[in-house]
Amino acid sequence: MNREPLQHVLGTAPFRHVTLRVGPDALVPRPETELLAEWALELMPPTVASPLVIDVGTGTGCIACAIAWERPGARVIALETSPRAAAMARDNVAALGLAGRVTVEVSDLFGALGTIRADIVVSNPPYLPTELIPTLSPEVSRHDPRIAMDGGPEGLTVIRRIVAEAPAWLVPGGALLLETFGGEQARTVADLMRGRGFEAVETRRDLAGVERFLGGRRA
Ligand SMILES: C[S@@+](CC[C@H](N)C(=O)[O-])C[C@H]1O[C@@H](n2cnc3c(N)ncnc32)[C@H](O)[C@@H]1O
Repeated sequence: MNREPLQHVLGTAPFRHVTLRVGPDALVPRPETELLAEWALELMPPTVASPLVIDVGTGTGCIACAIAWERPGARVIALETSPRAAAMARDNVAALGLAGRVTVEVSDLFGALGTIRADIVVSNPPYLPTELIPTLSPEVSRHDPRIAMDGGPEGLTVIRRIVAEAPAWLVPGGALLLETFGGEQARTVADLMRGRGFEAVETRRDLAGVERFLGGRRA
């Protein structure tokens, strides 16, 4: 009756092969994001024993945990600006026994990182245009954290920063993978990535056939 999401009532949500604790402090993981994690797993360098992944805006930690769970040896640094979401991600990492390989840092994008280079930067950032948020179903607009959804006037505020900053944190040839709102926004993000020197920029479709995911490699 309160239009509370079922996942909040249950307190858990499945994501690929793991089950995560969820709640009002972090976005409920969405099924389409499972495809973003799958793409990251596909691009993990096969000959590197401990590839390094940076997950920007980790929320519940779903992408970071799924990658570490499915690729033994992978290390993930999960970055999150919301201390409450970061605490939830840390709980999920610990509950899944992944604390040795997944670290969660409270950070504005890459700000908390030292001098490291990752094989992959992956992010499902806030990408909704601000004016769209009140039009969403109450399960989303009232119950998901606003900071997890609100991407500014065109939905591109955080994405622009990630595309600009990611090359500094990637090895040459390393991949940046992003989830977007799709459609026009996806085409704009492809142009932004090419403009920042990313090569082999391509889009992938989500489960509904929307061109939603962007990937490219640092030159
Ligand atoms: C769309 S949610 C995605 C959460 C999770 N990765 C997922 O796929 O379910 C975006 C996340 O980015 C975080 N975020 C927003 N701005 C950020 C910033 N400047 N630096 C780091 N994280 C940020 C939000 O708090 C939120 O957890």
